Amino acid sequence: MPGGETVTSSSVVTAAAVAATAVGLLSASRLVRRWRRSRHLSALRSRLQAAYREAKTRFGEHINEEVRRQQLTDSEKSEILSLSTGELLSRLRAKSLDPARVLLAYQARAYEVDRDLNCVIEFLQPDLAEVNLDGPLAGLPISIKESMAVKGKYSCFGLAAFAEKPLPTEDCSTVKILRALGGVPFVRTSVPQTMMSVLSHNPIEGAVKHPTAENRSPGGSSSGEAALIAAGGSPLGLGSDIGGSIRLPAAWCGIAGFKPTSGRLSRQGQRSVSVQKLVPASWGPMGPDVASLATFMKAFCNSELHDQIDPGVPPLGFNETIYVESRPLRIGFYLYDHQFQAVPSAERAVKETVDRLASRGHTMVPWDPPIRRLNLMETYLRAVTCDGAGILDDALNGDRVSYAVKLGLHAIQVPWPGRWVRQRWCRLTGDSETEEWLRSSVPMPNVLSMWYFNQEVTSLREEFTHRWREDKLDAIICPALGCPAVDLEPKSPFNGCLSYLVLYNLFNFPAGSVPVTRVTASDVAAMSNYPLAGRLVMRQ
Ligand SMILES: *[C@@H]1O[C@H](CO)[C@@H](O)[C@H](O)[C@H]1NC(C)=O
Repeated sequence: MPGGETVTSSSVVTAAAVAATAVGLLSASRLVRRWRRSRHLSALRSRLQAAYREAKTRFGEHINEEVRRQQLTDSEKSEILSLSTGELLSRLRAKSLDPARVLLAYQARAYEVDRDLNCVIEFLQPDLAEVNLDGPLAGLPISIKESMAVKGKYSCFGLAAFAEKPLPTEDCSTVKILRALGGVPFVRTSVPQTMMSVLSHNPIEGAVKHPTAENRSPGGSSSGEAALIAAGGSPLGLGSDIGGSIRLPAAWCGIAGFKPTSGRLSRQGQRSVSVQKLVPASWGPMGPDVASLATFMKAFCNSELHDQIDPGVPPLGFNETIYVESRPLRIGFYLYDHQFQAVPSAERAVKETVDRLASRGHTMVPWDPPIRRLNLMETYLRAVTCDGAGILDDALNGDRVSYAVKLGLHAIQVPWPGRWVRQRWCRLTGDSETEEWLRSSVPMPNVLSMWYFNQEVTSLREEFTHRWREDKLDAIICPALGCPAVDLEPKSPFNGCLSYLVLYNLFNFPAGSVPVTRVTASDVAAMSNYPLAGRLVMRQ
């Protein structure tokens, strides 16, 4: 029938038109939904911002009033603030200092520091009656990262959607134990959006600034802690570390930070965005010096409440004998991890430390970490984005995305054909950092590949510990990371230099960073011979 064809083709046309309209309507409705969500999240964000701002203003007035009422003079305040954490603590224990005045001095200082550095989310109003002042921390003010859940307080990590999550009905185990030990949590400090970043910005609180270099990043994700402590606004703080988040900001701001083995300290009730288990999360102390970190570890590990609250932690006290003994140690050291060559200043820091320790009678052993066959950053990134970064995508859905996460996430969010093209392009142009992100952030195809991946990491870790034992080492020293503080808002990714940090997350070893030296003019001059100079911008 001649007319049949006409009918068929017109019905095809109709069907195509219907399909096109349906697709159009669907994507239009998706766009509308997305627009509504982002408007909703904007409103949530503004509400939070206004609430935090108002609370800070009220706190400022309250503190000024208290300083006047309690007649805390500038000289008394600076005397309190000038004490080392250890000295402060021993005077508090001896009851020769009043914990209320110490708290007031630190509150006033933290308020000043926050006005310059924007490192505090909110000031708590601690009630000293709730703190065991006879405990080993005897009323010491302690700053805490936003992830340490406090009853009735948000933990948003710069994500507006998290403001709709139920508020914690109790404090996390860390905060409970802290109060029982005599610690006084007094401020909550800021983090980069999602906390899965080593920068310091989020769209709710803005950027935490570096305490001494205006246009640099203080690092992250324990950004607020590092900046506040370095500027003298807190004698001790608590951060968390799943990829250098304690050690990196500590190194960039010039303070000390310690990440214990995951599981050594209870983290019941702490909050985070990432829930993967391939790289274990850890938290620990940050402070002006190593002694302050040891004091904290000692108090916490010796707390009876610790294993009562959390039967998952080993009932293993702090071994004072080992801590105070002065036998000569056998210490391995390396300048290069076969992954990323550290800048000259980082190498100099290790060399000077090695010389100093050798002059004190320790045996220093050049050590070659057995990780040659490991592409460390790729392995680490694969582990933390084994879900194809789906959890980050979810958390950020419809929200304003900070540059602190954009750098890495932009690479991930490219759909397949674009990803392939972009990867080739990055290889051509030598953008190895972005290429690494693209290569490693594909979702694990199935459970089996995740198991094999895990097995591979475990066997590398065994090889590492085996070599350590064979060489009879007590400790290892290496660059904290490959580069000093980058720009506040860097233009390109710099994941390569993190290899020195993430190794000890992937292998779950205790690790810390200690301030040794600062970048000098000759370090900057030495950059002319540094092979990766094009990848890093160095200034004094
Ligand atoms: C502390 O460590 C030393 C040396 O390894 C050991 O002899 C001692 O038993 C340990 N003490 C405790 C309380 O674990």
